[in-house]
Amino acid sequence: MDYNELEEIKKSASKEIQEISDANSLELLRIKYLGRKGKLTEILRSLKDLPDDQKREIGSQANKLKKELDNLLMQKLQDFKNYKPKSSFDVSIPGKKIPLGHLHPLTKTEQKIQSIFTSMGFSIVSGPEIENDYYNFDALNIPPNHPARDAWNTFWIKRDTNIQMYTNDANRKNDQRLLLRTHTSPVQIRYMEAHHPPFQIIVPGRVFRYEATDASHEINFHQVEGLMVGKDVSLANFKFIVEEFFKKLFGSSVKNRIQFRFRPSYFPFVEPGVEVDILLKNKWLEVIGAGMVHPRVFEAAHYNPREWQGFAFGLGLERIAMIEYNIPDIRLFYSSDLRFIRQF
Ligand code: PHE
Repeated sequence: MDYNELEEIKKSASKEIQEISDANSLELLRIKYLGRKGKLTEILRSLKDLPDDQKREIGSQANKLKKELDNLLMQKLQDFKNYKPKSSFDVSIPGKKIPLGHLHPLTKTEQKIQSIFTSMGFSIVSGPEIENDYYNFDALNIPPNHPARDAWNTFWIKRDTNIQMYTNDANRKNDQRLLLRTHTSPVQIRYMEAHHPPFQIIVPGRVFRYEATDASHEINFHQVEGLMVGKDVSLANFKFIVEEFFKKLFGSSVKNRIQFRFRPSYFPFVEPGVEVDILLKNKWLEVIGAGMVHPRVFEAAHYNPREWQGFAFGLGLERIAMIEYNIPDIRLFYSSDLRFIRQF
């Protein structure tokens, strides 16, 4: 029995304690050194057989070591108690916020426009985005090879893509060339074919133009078509509706100060044709193309043009949203840029 033995116990015990990784092994280790038959216990027990001077010396060393090992074991046990596995569920951590989405500015503007028109007795109607020659052009008094077609740069759809559309339509409409509709006006014809006047509808929808893009042009954008047909619907009715619409759209703040300008214009499917400008921040902005439905358009829909008359109009949804929200570039709407979207 000497110091060396104690030193060795100290060395091996603290090394083993360090390497322990669970509480059970730690208890076994405690028993190994400090249990009833433990290594250090044996030494302490055998102290009584030593001569007095050694008894005091080694005794105090052994007791000191016992305390040290006790402490190490306690400390290690405490570590185990404090340890939290990474996967544990901590109920005290504040919850993560799930970001709420919101409507796209275009959707908001569209919904606002719809609610204004429905409040004035219009119904909301839709039509196909893939159209054919007949509805997009011919029936709207734009015959093949007519120069007016140049105004609507068209995405044509290849026949060999084998799209079987409109198989229920009458024969003449079946073997038409397919295209992405360049405006919502074809829905005028589709609606009139299926309904009897009088009626008043709006047609919000996506349209396509084969054009170079810039701050005010996109290859795909949205229009809201309007059509009101009755026995005596006049341009004066249109003037009232359109002014009422913009007053409601741009709110009470500018209500009495909005100024309108009606300019003569040309669209093959109306006669006379007009364009409406509104004065905003000292600038005249063109917001709507419109006019009285052309007799040929009524004929295409098998309406008697001597019996019925009406007005049609088309407005660009992006245009309105750009004015409403002060958006400088139409391409931002489709940029998927969250920094843009989150502003609305
Ligand atoms: N369809 C026309 C356009 O694209 C707009 C319009 C609709 C004009 C109805 C007059 C009447 O551009």
